[in-house]
Amino acid sequence: MTSLADRLSDFNLDVDSLVVVLTGAGISAESGVPTFRGKDGLWKTYRAQDLATPEAFERDPKTVWEWYDYRRQIVATKRPNPAHVALAELDEKIPHFQLITQNVDGLHLEAGARRVIELHGNLFRVRCTAEGTVFEDREVPLKEIPPHCRCGALLRPDVVWFGEPIPHDLLERSFEACRHASLMLVVGTSAVVQPAASMPLLARQAGAPVVEINPEETPITPFADISLRGRAGEIVPELATSLLDVLGVG
Ligand code: OAD
Repeated sequence: MTSLADRLSDFNLDVDSLVVVLTGAGISAESGVPTFRGKDGLWKTYRAQDLATPEAFERDPKTVWEWYDYRRQIVATKRPNPAHVALAELDEKIPHFQLITQNVDGLHLEAGARRVIELHGNLFRVRCTAEGTVFEDREVPLKEIPPHCRCGALLRPDVVWFGEPIPHDLLERSFEACRHASLMLVVGTSAVVQPAASMPLLARQAGAPVVEINPEETPITPFADISLRGRAGEIVPELATSLLDVLGVG
């Protein structure tokens, strides 16, 4: 059987290659963070898609904040798993690298990755609804729900909700990376939420091979050059070691 390193060697990568990684909730599953669409994705009777909207916040900021407080409490006890750690090592060792995540749990940063675009924001940042100022806020649990800014206005989580645009600069930098990628890794995303879902296709159309890591098939699978079926925490460390070898930076 052909080894993973042999399969990666077919892509003619070298130290000048740009490696782009897109991650989704599946990469944090083994850290114990519930995924969005998995069976553990419900809170009380609510679906994420019904709470993570500007309309829900306008109607009922208390309930939306209770849900975020609950998620912050869960994530605050979780640690990066071997997949986060392996990607942080890629970030450290590969000269041209970009990690794009849809996750708001901050676990890539906690693992030590630095070239990270958090497309959907971060659970531990808040934004003033009046002034737009963004602060880090790690208070868990929150003393006041919903929390208020010093100016008196409501604070909101600094995350992107359904129906809201991703900040333009983050989106542009992500598309730019995908257009210039030499290799794209896609880890633990159901690839159904745009625009992130279209990024692997963009890289593929620009000529980059795509490697998918997911226990299940997704819309990426039909055009992935390599599909690795399994858990990120088990597969990504091995993949990272092979990739560093192939790039000659191991
Ligand atoms: P989903 O919950 O939609 O998908 C999680 C994916 O991870 C699925 O394809 C699973 O098969 C896979 N998975 C589960 N366990 C895994 C493991 N151990 N290793 C690898 N993969 C595993 O999450 P996302 O694709 O991230 O957006 O969802 C995208 C966006 O939709 C989220 O960022 C969020 C959500 O609504 C916003 O909040 C704006």
